[in-house]
Amino acid sequence: MELIDGRGLALKLKEDLRKKTDKFAEAGRRRPHLAAILVGNDPASESYVRNKVRSCEQAGFESTLIRRPSEVSESELLGLIDELNSNSEIDGYIVQLPLPMHIDEQKVLLAIKPSKDVDGFHPMNFGKMALGMDSFLPATPYGILLMLEYYNIPTEGKEVVVIGRSNIVGTPMSILLSRKQKVGNATVTLVHSRTQNLANHIKNSDIVIAAIGIPEFVKPDMVKKGAVIIDVGINRVEDASKKRGYRLVGDVDFEGLTSKVSFMTPVPGGVGPMTVLGLLMNTMKAYEM
Ligand code: GUN
Repeated sequence: MELIDGRGLALKLKEDLRKKTDKFAEAGRRRPHLAAILVGNDPASESYVRNKVRSCEQAGFESTLIRRPSEVSESELLGLIDELNSNSEIDGYIVQLPLPMHIDEQKVLLAIKPSKDVDGFHPMNFGKMALGMDSFLPATPYGILLMLEYYNIPTEGKEVVVIGRSNIVGTPMSILLSRKQKVGNATVTLVHSRTQNLANHIKNSDIVIAAIGIPEFVKPDMVKKGAVIIDVGINRVEDASKKRGYRLVGDVDFEGLTSKVSFMTPVPGGVGPMTVLGLLMNTMKAYEM
């Protein structure tokens, strides 16, 4: 099994971005600027946003973190979004999800100006992505495409199973891999909680993309020998032997799969860092537009 080193690849690509942004600065131009709105203090969201801020520093981007307590009103949040939409110093921004129950997530995502929507969640960008038009690609699927390309993993004509149909990972991933493009041209099956014969679909697949949020759901007996495994899951499971009381595991049984598969992403250090990289690439694109 060859490990797909998302952390290493993201570091290398961040260095490439750094060289570009240093040139902008030398030429007297401002640096690309990413902002993030974080509502409340969900530990996973805190950790994602911290990584985003740190990655901005590594890539030579400016970053701004805007925090609001979980009781923030929807109208205050929409007001913040208005300000970011019209702030010419900010190239792109994200609203970290999930949002508290009293806030209408769709309303918030619709308020984001599509040209600054570096998460690619606005229906305008999602629609363009689905039609193969130039757009911001959702960060996680984008990062996965970059990994498959870098590791020369063929997708054309391959059977791919995407496990999970979320708006931010499973659904866009299934669309992108089935499109007629360099990393694409695959036969994609999207499976979910109502799928019958789930194990058969997985077993038939050359590439398995697991994005369901169930710890170690994909077991060795479910996959084809030599398959490529992309693990999107980041699950906290209790572990008294760890100082922080938990450890992170993916959606696949990593240990069990090592002797059976050809390539696999670890958790942590696989898809996570490449998601942030996808976001930075989108911010660079917004800056250059
Ligand atoms: N929550 C989990 N993943 C993401 C992401 O990629 N973007 C945002 N905005 N929120 C998330």
